[in-house]
Amino acid sequence: MSLSKDKNWWRQAVVYQIYPRSFKDSNGDGLGDIKGITSKIDYLSSLSLDAVWLSPFYPSALVDGGYDVDDYRDVDPKLGSLADFDEMLSKLHAAGIRIFVDIVPNHSSNLHLWFKEAIAAEPGSAARNRYIFRDGKGASGELPPTDWPSHFAPSAWTHESKMGGKHNQWYCHLFAPEQPDWNWDNREIEEDFLKTLKFWADRGVDGFRIDVAHAMKKDLSEPLQSQPRYASHKELELANGTNVLFDRNEVHEVYKEWRKLFEQYDPPRVAVAEANVSAEGAVKYASTAELGQCFNFELLDANFIANEFKLIIDRALVNAKKAGSSTTWCLNNHDQMRPATKFGLLPTVDRVNWRNSNGTSSPLDEKLGTQSAVAGSMLIMALPGCTYIYQGEELGLHEVMDIPESEIQDPQYLRNHKIDKGRDGCRVPLPWTKTGSSFGFGDGGSHLPQPKHFGDYSIEVESADPSSPLSIFRKALALRKTLIAPEDMTWHETGDAQVLHFSRPNGWNCITNFGRNHYNFDGAGEVIHSSGPLGKAGDLPPATTVWLRSSL
Ligand code: NOJ
Repeated sequence: MSLSKDKNWWRQAVVYQIYPRSFKDSNGDGLGDIKGITSKIDYLSSLSLDAVWLSPFYPSALVDGGYDVDDYRDVDPKLGSLADFDEMLSKLHAAGIRIFVDIVPNHSSNLHLWFKEAIAAEPGSAARNRYIFRDGKGASGELPPTDWPSHFAPSAWTHESKMGGKHNQWYCHLFAPEQPDWNWDNREIEEDFLKTLKFWADRGVDGFRIDVAHAMKKDLSEPLQSQPRYASHKELELANGTNVLFDRNEVHEVYKEWRKLFEQYDPPRVAVAEANVSAEGAVKYASTAELGQCFNFELLDANFIANEFKLIIDRALVNAKKAGSSTTWCLNNHDQMRPATKFGLLPTVDRVNWRNSNGTSSPLDEKLGTQSAVAGSMLIMALPGCTYIYQGEELGLHEVMDIPESEIQDPQYLRNHKIDKGRDGCRVPLPWTKTGSSFGFGDGGSHLPQPKHFGDYSIEVESADPSSPLSIFRKALALRKTLIAPEDMTWHETGDAQVLHFSRPNGWNCITNFGRNHYNFDGAGEVIHSSGPLGKAGDLPPATTVWLRSSL
């Protein structure tokens, strides 16, 4: 199968996120790897995907799951080699699947050659100017230079002595101390990232997912300003590109330059921003003069409630039009609680507190959660725009709640006063088989413990069951390819506040019942697929989506 040269291939694509360490282990060391991915291309093909996005696979000490990058232009030897990557890429392309790689431009790792040079160098040197080093406050510089917070530690500043530095400076990191922030006011850094993008684009990579895309540029003018907590979306909007740490106007100049590079390829390379800004704030990042797409994360926080979904959908479509882009839909990624679990909790439950209680503080309706998640997925697949699926979502996997404290890897927990249990529960390796060593993940165990029930959710078991989430996803994704319509939709009145019905210009209708009552759609069209069993004569049970073909 050859890849089309259509420069708009991404606008309504299905992109499947692979978390490489947890996808498939080919050499029995307990960590998923590149050859593991290559060995499962048949599986990826069975999902009718347009593209896969690989979370970082670069050399890394894995302090933050690979988002601490030692070398942007290589493959972690624990995961394979560049030759393995090239083989994977050519086999994916041969199967008609494109590939996105993750670019982490806000910070490197402390093991990056340039950070090692910076720590060994003198204050004020060119080597230090690649990162953000400053003298501390206090009589002898014993206090951090500012009050900036870090995501994974109380302060965004660590004294260089902690990293072996011999001087009395502090360096900045918005995430873990092992993730020092680059100095984006230094042209050398801008050029190095252009080199990295070109390196992967020349190898044939089709797209890029940009990590913390609203960071990078900071207000580093002296004296550094106070920013004791991160600004909310609203505050970022009001700051209008002048917040000290995030969403600054200058970052858009970076992306305009990246766009020029993307356009040098045929078809042009594409990118999607991970920018923690409001739906309105995302417009600039998503503009086709910049990255071209920006994740719409609003559904990640939504409850399975019709009106919540509807408001988010309407807002996203308006903003995508403003950007000249298509919108993106996702219910999950490697930073989020699995949707089957989220939707199995009452909307009033605080999800973080619930996770911290190991899932004991309120009851979980597992079955309802799984049904709702599959129904939600079929809804987003039918919307205009691009659908992102996170590995395991197609199996209806639940969050793993009982990872023992001693096995937690996430810095969100380890570096943050052990307050929030973090994100490991959605990163547990995939179950491929019902039984056997790590349920077919590999022969050498699994780097995060898999719960006993994982075998029942395995690809082997679900492939054999026509009513499983996997079978429903497979059919939906295959049908979606044949149903793709112009990027438009119309809402239809249902007379039930818990039922959403929309259609696409070619007569593809989607009805989702978010409520607890049955809904009757008799006469609305011919059923082509549903996320669960339907009743007789147009009966749509609770937590179910149906696709219809009609002349509406
Ligand atoms: C966002 C990534 O998705 C997350 O996993 C990571 O911890 C942070 N960025 C820092 O790179």
